Amino acid sequence: MTSPKKATATAHPNIALVKYWGKRDEALILPHQSSLSVTLGPLSVTTTVEFREGPDEVELNGRVAEGSERSRVLHVLDVLRAGTPQGGAKVVSRGDFPASAGLASSAAGFAALAVAARAAAGLPRDPRAESILARLGSGSACRSVQGGVCIWRRGQAADGSDSFAEQLVDASFWPELRLVVAMVSREEKDVKSRDGMRLTEETSPYYLAWATDAELEVERASELIRRKDLEKLGELAERNAWRMHATALAADPPLCYLKPATLELILRLKEARRQGVPVWFTLDAGPNPVLLTDAAHEDAAVALARSCGAAEVVRCAPGGDARVVDAHLF
Ligand code: DP6
Repeated sequence: MTSPKKATATAHPNIALVKYWGKRDEALILPHQSSLSVTLGPLSVTTTVEFREGPDEVELNGRVAEGSERSRVLHVLDVLRAGTPQGGAKVVSRGDFPASAGLASSAAGFAALAVAARAAAGLPRDPRAESILARLGSGSACRSVQGGVCIWRRGQAADGSDSFAEQLVDASFWPELRLVVAMVSREEKDVKSRDGMRLTEETSPYYLAWATDAELEVERASELIRRKDLEKLGELAERNAWRMHATALAADPPLCYLKPATLELILRLKEARRQGVPVWFTLDAGPNPVLLTDAAHEDAAVALARSCGAAEVVRCAPGGDARVVDAHLF
């Protein structure tokens, strides 16, 4: 390689309404079941990748990445470089939302990395290839390459070539949809998703039932989204979140991501609905629920979250595709 090649991309995080929980292949990050998520605007992560002579350098949110953070980034780049040889990489990545927002920045981060790295290598935009590359950093990242609602099909192939996310509808399809992150707890979760899903799969007697059910729920959720049926979609999202957590609670040792404040809020939603506020929850592997509602009831959902002790809330709506941008971070 002679001249330096540099590109920058921006991607949004996503929240799954049908969760991914468990891998059939740890190295390739292939899931047991399909999952479905909403891409979340306006939050974003921006990543610049430059290929040039010299050692690999990775900086995330202002500090030099070390350990598994660094090796996961380099793994994604190494897979790309195995196909299209490049020099050493300099990677700088920055999120515009604090870790305290309770949303993992890894999904947006790896999606932005995959898009920027392919562009820096001179490859054309290709959502399928970008989704597969992002997946190798973090499974849920494959669903952040495109906006709106995306489905990660589990695929069948041993090499993962058919395990990537596809867009069901774009961000303009359901602009009134709202997702409110309710920060009821700032405690660090003690078991990361990667370890939690492994433990669940290895020890929970309910794991097979979880995976079988989630696969079927993806088709149902797709239909409800096409019909913009918030009530039925909310019910499905809650059911799927409860089932993921039930599976995890049945692991050995049990995995409980809920805090008392989590339960207080999510148990209040039934009463809120009785009073006419259409609001449901989903919950990732942590204590902070994400409330599902519409634009007309966003303020009511925020007020409810605050009344249950949420010190901070983050208001989100469907976000757009990951995109290549001109403003480099270095
Ligand atoms: C509960 O994608 O963070 O948020 O593939 O091991 O990096 P790795 O895990 P990750 O797990 C996400 C789990 C989840 C559900 C979801 O986003 O589908």
